[in-house]
Amino acid sequence: MDRREFIKGGMAIAAITALSAAGLASGRQEKTPDKTDKNKVQPEKKKSGSTKKMKILVITGSPRRKGNSAILADNFIKGAEEAGHMVFRFDAAFKKVHPCTGCNHCGMDGPCVFNDDFNEVRSNIIDADAVVFASPMYYFGLSAQIKTVIDRFYAINGQIHVSKKTALLMTYADTVAKEAQPIISHYETLINYLGWEDCGRVIASGVWTAGSVKNTKFPEQAYKLGKNI
Ligand SMILES: Cc1cc2nc3c(=O)[nH]c(=O)nc-3n(C[C@H](O)[C@H](O)[C@H](O)COP(=O)(O)O)c2cc1C
Repeated sequence: MDRREFIKGGMAIAAITALSAAGLASGRQEKTPDKTDKNKVQPEKKKSGSTKKMKILVITGSPRRKGNSAILADNFIKGAEEAGHMVFRFDAAFKKVHPCTGCNHCGMDGPCVFNDDFNEVRSNIIDADAVVFASPMYYFGLSAQIKTVIDRFYAINGQIHVSKKTALLMTYADTVAKEAQPIISHYETLINYLGWEDCGRVIASGVWTAGSVKNTKFPEQAYKLGKNI
């Protein structure tokens, strides 16, 4: 499958999902909401900083439990929980997630041949309002641990092409902003493909040893991002 088909495949599944949600694919007729019905439930607003209580999935990618990206994740979660959101954290480096083998058994929208800890992501991402990625930079890319989880999105591709908020927390040792571009570009391309709304990024440069990010402004930035997402 080339990139064009990959995008089309995702779009087709997303379209079917959207149609199904609207009751169109099955021919099911939804009752047209009555504007005069005083008891009707108004949809809650979904914009940054809104008061809607959200379900947030945070996926971390560092094998350092007390590492810098873990600290950013901690701070983001603290802010988000203080704001009343419900957070589920998936520390990819401490879970068993087999890399996607491209067998296509799932058809981009079905059961995966691997029955492993990705099931926790699967059961938390579908109805999540927001998904947050926290990763160290490894050779100018995301860590293999978090990328492995992202690749397994393939099996739920059709179900996650829906409106979600998202954010990126990333740490790296160097201080050259240009070196962060490949990860930022990957993140932007991924969320554009999935149709997710970027709510912010914390790009923490100049942090090498585990915990060194504590002495910077970045944990506060992550906290505020969590509080205001
Ligand atoms: C395998 C490996 C590759 C790395 N590659 C880079 C890199 O390309 N650029 C960089 O600035 N730092 C690099 N680093 C440093 C980490 O990005 C940095 O220490 C980061 O703060 C680690 O985050 P963590 O504590 O959350 O694991 C690398 C570290 C490791 C272990």
